[in-house]
Amino acid sequence: MIFYFSGTGNSKWVADKIAEKICDKAYDISELNDIPKLSYEKQIGFVFPIYAWGVPEPMNLFIKKLKKTNLFTFAVCTCGANAGLALKKLSSIYHLDSSYSVIMPNNYIIGSELEKKSIILKKLKNAQNDIDKISQNIIEQKNGYFVKEGMFPIIKSTFINKGFNKFARSTNHFYVNKEKCNGCGLCATMCPIHTIEMHNGKPTWNDKCYRCLRCINKCPQVAIQYGKKTAKRGRYNIDEYL
Ligand SMILES: Cc1cc2nc3c(=O)[nH]c(=O)nc-3n(C[C@H](O)[C@H](O)[C@H](O)COP(=O)(O)O)c2cc1C
Repeated sequence: MIFYFSGTGNSKWVADKIAEKICDKAYDISELNDIPKLSYEKQIGFVFPIYAWGVPEPMNLFIKKLKKTNLFTFAVCTCGANAGLALKKLSSIYHLDSSYSVIMPNNYIIGSELEKKSIILKKLKNAQNDIDKISQNIIEQKNGYFVKEGMFPIIKSTFINKGFNKFARSTNHFYVNKEKCNGCGLCATMCPIHTIEMHNGKPTWNDKCYRCLRCINKCPQVAIQYGKKTAKRGRYNIDEYL
């Protein structure tokens, strides 16, 4: 059984591909009402994006509630460049037999420009090869740590990650361009933490936010902005590249 969290589809794509190759099923943790029983499984897997060199809050909370088992357990994170110590930290709260990182297109368009199409396509092609190898390793139940940590992992995964979770997850800078927004409400229905509400046909943001960037990347009208810079930036939609 594979559990995934995905803001903009990268981790869902990776989870679905691995599930297909190892003949297992992938479940979106945002849509699960109960913590499932794990007794009849061959293995347990977790797939999620890296947020500020850490594990996203919903995945951390989910894993903390999961019963410990003796089943073969793996984790795969997807990241734009590197994962820091996220998976080592995760393995201290839940035993992992194997850990992997898969480099995927960067969806963090509030921090930097969308990557060029050629880079996105190259990353997806390389990811496909990584997924084949990871799936084979999972079938063979190989142990190991295959994670690109990047430079200064301790600083990134402790100080910067703490700062991100404490100060950088406010919704204050999200807003909607009222002329472009057609009030479809997709942002509100898609938000995994239901923080977006429609008022007078336009979205408003409550405080809590995972920072998954689904709303800003997936708005069909490109009407959602964050601060001043995103108006000129592209949006990341994995379906455009598959
Ligand atoms: C809030 C946030 C923080 C991120 N931090 C990192 C990071 O520390 N390192 C990195 O390589 N990529 C980082 N990224 C990029 C994502 O991890 C990457 O694009 C991931 O594949 C997105 O997966 P998803 O489409 O399943 O949400 C970040 C993205 C977001 C939204």
